[in-house]
Amino acid sequence: MAKVHVIDHPLIQHKLTIIRDKTTGPKDFRELVNEVALLMAYEVTRDMPLQEVEVETPICATKGFTIAGKKLALIPILRAGLGMVEGVLQLIPTAKVGHIGVYRDPESLQPVEYYCKLPGDSEERDFILIDPMLATGGSAAAAIGFIKQRGCASIKLMCLLAAPEGIQAVQAAHPDVDIFTAAVDDQLNSHGYIIPGLGDAGDRLFGTK
Ligand code: PRP
Ligand code: URA
Repeated sequence: MAKVHVIDHPLIQHKLTIIRDKTTGPKDFRELVNEVALLMAYEVTRDMPLQEVEVETPICATKGFTIAGKKLALIPILRAGLGMVEGVLQLIPTAKVGHIGVYRDPESLQPVEYYCKLPGDSEERDFILIDPMLATGGSAAAAIGFIKQRGCASIKLMCLLAAPEGIQAVQAAHPDVDIFTAAVDDQLNSHGYIIPGLGDAGDRLFGTK
């Protein structure tokens, strides 16, 4: 079973509280979401393999380490996932960025993929799927499925807030995908919103409501 990693560093908890606050406007909301994404990326990438290298300091030769293994691809789920990408890129500027768009059909409630552009060398990359909200888990589970269909095997899911229902749904559908979140909230309301949550992440990021 995939692990759930709750990254609850005090700096993240502090920033997340301001993000939740309904009086926080889009400018501060965007900045803080990116700051938390940067801090979270530090933990999400903790298991990156290293290779030993020689380095010459001004004093002498010594051993050092550089990142080895597969390169990274960041895949935001449109549109709210875009709000976390810059933060992660500040820490990992060489990562490639793909995009996946998923909406839920109002009749069937089934997730529908409407856009997908992944890096050309996807099979050779480790993927971090990014979406601030894991609510029912339908969008994330579908996006992971679509990515797997294109030959990507190594996937982590990074979000800001997760509902227990969403965690369960992703774990059931994709037991190989670890979930990284800044908090696990209480539950969903009857409209599928996370309680206490932060409201509609896309609308708050882009000022559309
Ligand atoms: C939000 C969020 C997730 C999805 C989570 O996107 O960013 O993608 O809802 O809900 P789920 O776990 O129940 O699938 P939304 O559909 O509001 O679209 P937006 O990003 O364009 O605002
Ligand atoms: N999408 C959001 O933006 N917020 C929620 O609480 C649930 C889904």
